[in-house]
Amino acid sequence: MDATKRVLVVYYSLSGNTARVARDLATRLGADIESIRDLSHGAGGLSKVSAAFDAWRKAPAKIGTPQLDPARYPLMIVGTPVWMWRMTPAIRGYLNRMSDRIHSVAFFVTSGDTDVGKLQPALEVAAGHRAVAAAGFNAKELADAVAYETKLATFVDEITHSSGSPRRAA
Ligand SMILES: Cc1cc2nc3c(=O)[nH]c(=O)nc-3n(C[C@H](O)[C@H](O)[C@H](O)COP(=O)(O)O)c2cc1C
Repeated sequence: MDATKRVLVVYYSLSGNTARVARDLATRLGADIESIRDLSHGAGGLSKVSAAFDAWRKAPAKIGTPQLDPARYPLMIVGTPVWMWRMTPAIRGYLNRMSDRIHSVAFFVTSGDTDVGKLQPALEVAAGHRAVAAAGFNAKELADAVAYETKLATFVDEITHSSGSPRRAA
């Protein structure tokens, strides 16, 4: 970890949308970034069905050992695709494992059309913290460069003005 970096972005992504938002956020915020691996579900069709079912029944996935420690960052941002109106098993597994090490958290989701408000309470319970900011990027917004840029800029602004702000020194 670069000692000057105050924000950690952690995400899970299957088809790239959440990874794209995570990378763009990390660039704007000068953040460290980590992708979470789902070790419980493989890549095949049946694994996808089982992963979706696990999302629906709120079962956490076994995850690859995270390399970056959220305890070293005043603020972390957690991103997940929406699966079955819920967070992914990988992000549930991550938050279950790391909630004790989080100082302050913001969330984002990517989805077809499910709003972030549908997931935010469960994300907050899993993280053990209220969110300082939350944003959702739906398929329409992900496909429209202007809408995407506006949403991203608003979220970055909310984060930089939050109590866990990367620009407000502790
Ligand atoms: C198994 C599965 C379940 C999904 N369930 C939902 C859902 O409940 N609501 C929704 O709006 N989108 C749903 N989607 C669409 C994804 O949330 C959306 O495509 C997301 O951006 C994918 O992120 P990724 O590219 O980072 O994997 C689902 C996708 C998959 C694969």
